[in-house]
Amino acid sequence: MIQGVIFDLDGVLVSTDELHYQAWKMLAGELGIHNFTKKDNERQRGISRMASLEVLLEKSTRKFSAEEKEEMAEQKNNYYKELLKSLTPDSLLPGAKETLVYLRSKGIRTAVGSASKNAPEILKRIGLLPLLDQVSCGLDTTKSKPDPEVFLVAARKLGLPAQVCLVAEDSAAGIQAAKAGHMTSLAVGPLYQQLGGTWQARDLSAVENWEAIISCPISWKMPEKTNCM
Ligand code: BG6
Ligand code: MG
Repeated sequence: MIQGVIFDLDGVLVSTDELHYQAWKMLAGELGIHNFTKKDNERQRGISRMASLEVLLEKSTRKFSAEEKEEMAEQKNNYYKELLKSLTPDSLLPGAKETLVYLRSKGIRTAVGSASKNAPEILKRIGLLPLLDQVSCGLDTTKSKPDPEVFLVAARKLGLPAQVCLVAEDSAAGIQAAKAGHMTSLAVGPLYQQLGGTWQARDLSAVENWEAIISCPISWKMPEKTNCM
């Protein structure tokens, strides 16, 4: 039986992905990289800011020092933070709030497990903090997904063993991290059918059988991939 659900933030609860893309695109322009595409940006889903920068720099012919990379990551974050000012509770993705309310009514504990160091500010802006029991984010961790660290920290903060937690994710790195942490997973977002999640749904509003997901028996062998729409 699942006792806790750990939600990735960007692309699962809130639509910040376009803002990340725009901010990286601005930095790319400054670096003279004009062929940075949405496809490249898809590979930045779920991974840390520095790991995302490396994806962008694959498109550059120049080599950069660690110091220059730190400066670039900070510049991108400045652009991103400016764009985050446009976030409101309307930026929530379909079903996000309703799902948190439903799970709480069933006694399921909820947390965010996000690579983002901006997670606390985003959660404040979109008004979700009161509906979450814990937050684990890039500020709590040193390893980027697909390492399970951010989810294991979330489980620990919830006071639950990893095996009774389900992870909701929109990225390949996040689904791999859930597996590495021995957690079942729900894949959502534009790539939901390709991520290899235990369960799959277009978005949180499309999950019709939370009862079945929650009552899934704990097993070290993951259940077969299941469509839950
Ligand atoms: C993840 C995003 O949630 O957070 C990644 O999917 C992003 O694209 C990562 O790189 C880190 O975010 P931030 O806000 O710390 O730069
Ligand atoms: Mg995400």
